[in-house]
Amino acid sequence: MSFPSLRLRRLRRKESLRKLFEEVKLHPSNLIYPLFVDERIEEKEEIVSMPGQFRLSLKSLVKEVNDCKKLGINSFLFFGIPKLKDEHGSEAYNPKGIIQRAIEVLRKEFGEDINIITDVCLCEYTSHGHCGLIKDGYLDNDSSLELLKKIAITHAQAGADMVAPSAMLDGQVKALREALDDNNFHDTLIMGYSAKHASCFYSPFRDAALSAPKFGDRKSYQMSYKNKREALREIELDIREGADVIMVKPALAYLDIIHLTKNKFNLPLAAFNVSGEYSMIKAASKLGWLDEKEAIIEILTSIKRAGADMIITYFAKDLAEMVLKDEL
Ligand code: PBG
Ligand code: ZN
Repeated sequence: MSFPSLRLRRLRRKESLRKLFEEVKLHPSNLIYPLFVDERIEEKEEIVSMPGQFRLSLKSLVKEVNDCKKLGINSFLFFGIPKLKDEHGSEAYNPKGIIQRAIEVLRKEFGEDINIITDVCLCEYTSHGHCGLIKDGYLDNDSSLELLKKIAITHAQAGADMVAPSAMLDGQVKALREALDDNNFHDTLIMGYSAKHASCFYSPFRDAALSAPKFGDRKSYQMSYKNKREALREIELDIREGADVIMVKPALAYLDIIHLTKNKFNLPLAAFNVSGEYSMIKAASKLGWLDEKEAIIEILTSIKRAGADMIITYFAKDLAEMVLKDEL
């Protein structure tokens, strides 16, 4: 059968039919909302390069999470901004550090109703801004792993559900699984930042978290975006090392990698819709060049359509509000 008896526009004639045939549906239960907790402040502060996102104080954190819960968002990824930074990033594995205290407060307040996921890295805590220990100007892999283990254990002790190593060190998932198991945290999940690329789209985040490297760049540990077979290899290794969830990051310029990963592996797959991807939409819509709501829906739908089971996104609240108002 072909035209004129075959007409695909039949499926699109009216809104109720279009809704019936939708292949991809967004829902706040699959979104993970990144939050920054800042040890230096008492009140929340808007992040200049990420309008609508805030550095939260311990005090303002509970209200923020409560507001999100009302919108149907139950999963959060936490980043810490410490008062003090040093060469070894000691505040990252201080049991009384900002993230550890934030986890305790939230667990007490919300019990098991929320999923607490923590970023495990050193760049926000080191004076040089790199994701581990520097030896002779180079990020030292194996000694840095020892510090990532300490971070993960303090997060698990405080009550984290899932730890997410983001340093792109070799062996980081294996190191964390062993450390967690040795300390009886058999049920703490690991989400690997498996294919994390060296990307320009992290700049607003680095502003927000004051984590830009003081010298050089991250290209000796984060992946080149020119290599997709290598991305699949990184993912395969994380799976072998015991990751429960794998991730592709960033998301938008990486939909091909998300798609390939989804077809090849059976683990839950997260995509990180990163800060730069957020800020460029915010900036363009502020200038009146884009309809913000439509852009958000289109972008998040494309990430899910490519194969992401979960999306880590700063748009989580915007989307959840639209879902509540039935604007999708
Ligand atoms: C820390 C980390 C970064 C992001 C997540 N974890 C920044 C970086 O690697 O420099 C980026 C997140 C975003 O841009 O939203 N390693
Ligand atoms: Zn880092």
